[in-house]
Amino acid sequence: MFHTAICDLLSIRYPILQGAMQGGGGVDLVAAVSEAGGLGVLPTFGGTDGKLRSDIAAVRERTSRPFGVNIMPMGRGITERCVGTCIELGVPIVTTGRADPGEEAVRKLKDAGIKVVSVIPTVEHARRMEGEGVDAVVASGTEAGGHVGTVATMPLVPMVVDAVRIPVVAGGGIGDARGMLAAFALGASGIQMGTRFMATVESDMNAWGQEQLVAMRETDTLVTRSMTGATVRCIRTPEIAAYEEALARHAPEAEVTELMRAVRASRNEEKPLRRQSAAGQIAGMIRDVPTVKDLIEGMVGEAARLARRLPAIADA
Ligand SMILES: Cc1cc2nc3c(=O)[nH]c(=O)nc-3n(C[C@H](O)[C@H](O)[C@H](O)COP(=O)(O)O)c2cc1C
Repeated sequence: MFHTAICDLLSIRYPILQGAMQGGGGVDLVAAVSEAGGLGVLPTFGGTDGKLRSDIAAVRERTSRPFGVNIMPMGRGITERCVGTCIELGVPIVTTGRADPGEEAVRKLKDAGIKVVSVIPTVEHARRMEGEGVDAVVASGTEAGGHVGTVATMPLVPMVVDAVRIPVVAGGGIGDARGMLAAFALGASGIQMGTRFMATVESDMNAWGQEQLVAMRETDTLVTRSMTGATVRCIRTPEIAAYEEALARHAPEAEVTELMRAVRASRNEEKPLRRQSAAGQIAGMIRDVPTVKDLIEGMVGEAARLARRLPAIADA
């Protein structure tokens, strides 16, 4: 059950992708997801070429299964460097996040036999990436942790499914078997999860961060430009909330600048309630920190059980 087009495309057992997570998903998480039958994906955002090379080697020491590397197109130089390293080291799958990496980058990866999967926030972006030759897209809604657009997963996924011919993976706001099954009902061939994977034994999110995830409500995230300049959904800290509140009431520029300074100063604070991290709305559902294997097998088993109940619900 649940063997879909994305499983064949990426040579994975379950149609479950772990979204790349800068600051939330290191080599142990990536290898554990791939070992458990999903697709683990390494982040590169903000990292050096040396780090990428050692991360790829570390994942290969831990698993022989397929894994991916994520490229965040933050400028042509960085994109070209990551593309070159992925080709040189024979990485099987590259995912792209936040923006279009450019037709040339996609062509180079494809010519090297690498599968390319692009995370997209709109129908237009999905069509563009399909035109550039990517193998699949992840339609990721505004519920997601990390860089987000404005459209929610529920309307985005079926609209993207209708707009492109390549497989569509649903991302943003999925954290259990119900979300997984809903994604299939919307026409997706698989799911991508980020926030749920941060609360696992193998994630390198620190203990404080995992405590936050388990305690958070669905309203405890917000979207801010104060982290990277683009819109990022993250844990609501007092500093980020104060900055966004000042922007919303059109506070004087000096006050906004001061609040931005406070956000920056709190970036790497050790104190509870101050640490910054991207996280999605699904954090409100997380109540435990399982191993990746238990999480994936539990979700697939429960989704199969729920799917068997659907005919009865439809007939009722
Ligand atoms: C802490 C964190 C860091 C992230 N970093 C990246 C990244 O470097 N590149 C990327 O393409 N997406 C990044 N994302 C987005 C995830 O890959 C994934 O698409 C998203 O988390 C899915 O939504 P969910 O959080 O509701 O599961 C990040 C998400 C989180 C929570």
